[in-house]
Amino acid sequence: MHDLAHPDYITTLTGGLIARWANPSDIPAILACYGVAFADHPNGSVNTFAIGYAQGFLTRNHPAAGVADCAIICDTENRTVLAATILMRTTIDYAGIPIPVGRPELVASHPAVRGRGLVRHIFAMIHARSAQRGEYLQMIAGIPYFYRQFGYEYAIASAGSRKVPFSAIPPLPASDSEPITLRRATPSDIPTILALYARDCQRQHDGQPLNITANLDATYLAWTMNPHTDAIDPWVPYMIIDGDGNSVGYAFTSRMRWLNHIGIWGIGTNSQFPLHTLFASIARGLIALSDAIPAHETAPAQADTLFFCLGDTHPIYPIIETYPHTRKAADAWYVRIDDIPQFINHITPALVQMVADSPFAGYVGTIAVSCYRFGFDIQISPGHISAQATAHAQTNAVAFYPPLVMVQQLLGYRSCQQLQVHYPDVRVDATIAPLIDVLFPARPTWVVALD
Ligand SMILES: CC(C)(COP(=O)(O)OP(=O)(O)OC[C@H]1O[C@@H](n2cnc3c(N)ncnc32)[C@H](O)[C@@H]1OP(=O)(O)O)[C@@H](O)C(=O)NCCC(=O)NCCS
Repeated sequence: MHDLAHPDYITTLTGGLIARWANPSDIPAILACYGVAFADHPNGSVNTFAIGYAQGFLTRNHPAAGVADCAIICDTENRTVLAATILMRTTIDYAGIPIPVGRPELVASHPAVRGRGLVRHIFAMIHARSAQRGEYLQMIAGIPYFYRQFGYEYAIASAGSRKVPFSAIPPLPASDSEPITLRRATPSDIPTILALYARDCQRQHDGQPLNITANLDATYLAWTMNPHTDAIDPWVPYMIIDGDGNSVGYAFTSRMRWLNHIGIWGIGTNSQFPLHTLFASIARGLIALSDAIPAHETAPAQADTLFFCLGDTHPIYPIIETYPHTRKAADAWYVRIDDIPQFINHITPALVQMVADSPFAGYVGTIAVSCYRFGFDIQISPGHISAQATAHAQTNAVAFYPPLVMVQQLLGYRSCQQLQVHYPDVRVDATIAPLIDVLFPARPTWVVALD
C-alpha cells in the first residue's frame, strides 16, 4: 500500500517500525505517547495537558478531527506508539473566500526515537491526506524552525497579546451600576454569536480590512457548548448582556486555567455598544467569573491577570494600553502551500475584485513568476485571473521569489516592497511590483484558534 493518504496505508520503516493511520484500539497507546513526548524531561511526570488535549480529538467527537485522522508510528509488535500527529480540518476565509486547511496538531515522537526521521515520515502521510481532502494549504503553530524542513514558512500573524493585572481595573463607583454583565452562551445564542463574530471580522485596522480570518461555524460553536466537551480546547463563548437583558456582544474565554491568567481569545460588541465604553465593565465581569473557571492542578490557586490574546492588532488594544499592561507582539503561523497555482485559482474572485478596485483596473497581461525551482504564470484580464504552472523556472520571469518567501506575499504577510528589502533574491520588475501588491496586499490577519 503506497498511497500514504489511504486509511489502509501501512509500511515498515527502517528497524521494523510500522507507519499507518490509527484506529480506536490505538487510543490508549497514542495518549501514552503524548504524555511522555510532551513531558518536561524524559523521566518527569507525564504531561496531562497534552493527554487532555489529545482526548478532545480522539474520544470526544471533536468536529475538526478524530482518531482516523491520526498518523502513527508503532513498534515492531504494533502496540507501542512511538510517534503521532493529528490532522485537523479547519477553514480560513481569505478576503471572504473559504479555504479548506489541514492543521497538523500534537506532533510528537517518543524521546527514545527522536532524530530518526519518524516525524518526517508522518508529515509525508499528513501532507498526502491533506491534499487528498482538497485542502489548499496546511498551517501549524509550533516549535521554532522545525517545520521549515517540511516546506512551511511563517506567513500568517498570530498570538499577539496584552495582559492587564486585575488590580489595574478600577472598581465600580458605588453610585453606578454595571452597564453589562456576562453569561455563558447557550445553543440558542449561536446565530447571535455568528453575526457578532462576522461583524468583528469586518473590522479595519489603519484603514485596512482583515485579509485572513478563521471560518467559525455553528458546528464548532455547538461543540464548545456541549456539556460533554470537557476537553482542553482554548475557549468557551460568553454573551455580553446589557441592562435590559439584550445580547450586545460576545467573548471567548478560557475553558480551563493553566497559569495565573484568564484568556480572552475573541471579543466584540454590536455598533450600539462600542468596546471602548464597556471595557472596564467587561474586565470586571471577566474578573468576577475567574473563580468559576476550573483551574488545572498545576495552576496557581488564584488568577490575577486578564490575557487578551487577540492577534497583532485589535481595537481593544489601545483601550487596554490606557491601563497598566504588558504587550507581546504577534508571532506567526507556519503555512505550507504545495500547489501555488491551485491556491491562486481558488482565490481568483477576490483577486479580480482587488484589481478592479485598483489603479490597475482594466489591466491585461501575464505575470511570469519564477520561484527558482519552479515557475508559474498569472494571466490577468478584466473579470478574469488564472494561474498556471510553467514547465520550468522561467529565466525570463518578471518576478523572482524563493519558494517559501512567495507564501509570505501570497498571504499578505509582507508586501513586495518589504520582501525586497529583506531578501536580495526577491527580484521584481519595478513596473510589476505595485500590481503584485494589489493582487496580494499586505494586510492584518486574525485567526482565532478552533482547537
Ligand atoms: C519536535 C519533535 C516532534 C521532533 O521529532 P523527531 O522524531 O526528532 O523528528 P524527525 O527525526 O522526523 O525530525 C526531522 C529532522 O528534524 C531534526 N530535528 C528534530 N528535532 C528538531 C528541532 N527541535 N529543531 C530542529 N530540527 C530538529 C531531526 O534531527 C531530523 O533531521 P534530519 O532529517 O536532517 O535527520 C520531538 O522532538 C518531540 O516530540 N518533541 C516534544 C513535543 C513537541 O514539542 N512537539 C512539537 C509541538 S509543535
